[in-house]
Amino acid sequence: MTAIQVQKFDEIQDPSVRQRLEVSNQEVKEYLNGKMEYILNHRAVQHPLLNYYRKNKFTKEQEKKFYLECWYYFQYEPFYITSIANNTRDYNILREVVLNVFDEVGGKITHETLFREQINDLGISNEEIDNYQCLPTTTAINEGAKKLYGEPPIEKALGALYADETMSAVLASQLNDGLQNQGYDKNVRKHWLMHLNVEIGHSNNAFNAIAPYVTHQEGRDLFDAGINKYLELLEAYWGGVDSIIRGEEAGTN
Ligand SMILES: [Fe+2]
Ligand SMILES: [Fe+2]
Repeated sequence: MTAIQVQKFDEIQDPSVRQRLEVSNQEVKEYLNGKMEYILNHRAVQHPLLNYYRKNKFTKEQEKKFYLECWYYFQYEPFYITSIANNTRDYNILREVVLNVFDEVGGKITHETLFREQINDLGISNEEIDNYQCLPTTTAINEGAKKLYGEPPIEKALGALYADETMSAVLASQLNDGLQNQGYDKNVRKHWLMHLNVEIGHSNNAFNAIAPYVTHQEGRDLFDAGINKYLELLEAYWGGVDSIIRGEEAGTN
C-alpha cells in the first residue's frame, strides 16, 4: 500500500501545480500509470530507511548526516534537469522542462535556499554544510543524473525524470512525516509541505513530455531503461545513507 496513489497525479486541481495534458490514446495513459505504480512501489522509493524515519526518531548526529547527504544529492538537480532541453528540438518538452525548473528558481527565494534554511533550522551551520564530504554513492547519483539528463536519447532522459519526480512526491511526504514525528513545527517543515504538491506537478511535467514518445515499443524500451537506471542509482544512494545512519541495522528494518 503506497501513501500516494497514481490517481492523485491524474486528478490534482491545485492551480499552481502542473496538470497532466489529455492523452487521447488510452493505452499510452495506462502504460504510463503502470510505470508510475512500479516507481511508487520500488524499494528505492519505499526504502527501509525512509519508512523507518517516518515513525522513529533520529539522534541529532543521525539527523545531521541524513540531511547533509540529502543536501549534496539535490544541490544541483535543476541544472541537470535544464540540460534535458539540449537533447531535443521538441517545444512540448522544452515547455515542461522550463515549467519544472521555474518552480525551483522562479520564486522569491529558490528551493535551494529554502532547503538550506530548513537544514539551518535543524542546527546545522552553513560551514558544516560546505565542509561536509558526501558519500561516493551520493556523488554517483549526481554524476549519473547529470549523464542521464544531459545525454541523448531523450526517451531515456525522460524516464529518469519520471522516476525522479514521482519519487520526489513520495519523499516529500516521508520527510515531512519524519520531521513531524521528530517534533518540528510547520515552519521547519515548510520546504517539504510545499513540495507535497509541487512534485506531483513535476511528475506531470515528465508525463506530458514523454506521452507522444511511448506509443511504440522502441520508445518504451528507452524510457524503461531511464527509469531503471535512475532507480538503481537511488537505491544505492539510500543504501549508502542507511549504512552511515543505522549501520549494522541497515536493511533489516
Ligand atoms: Fe523543489
Ligand atoms: Fe521536482
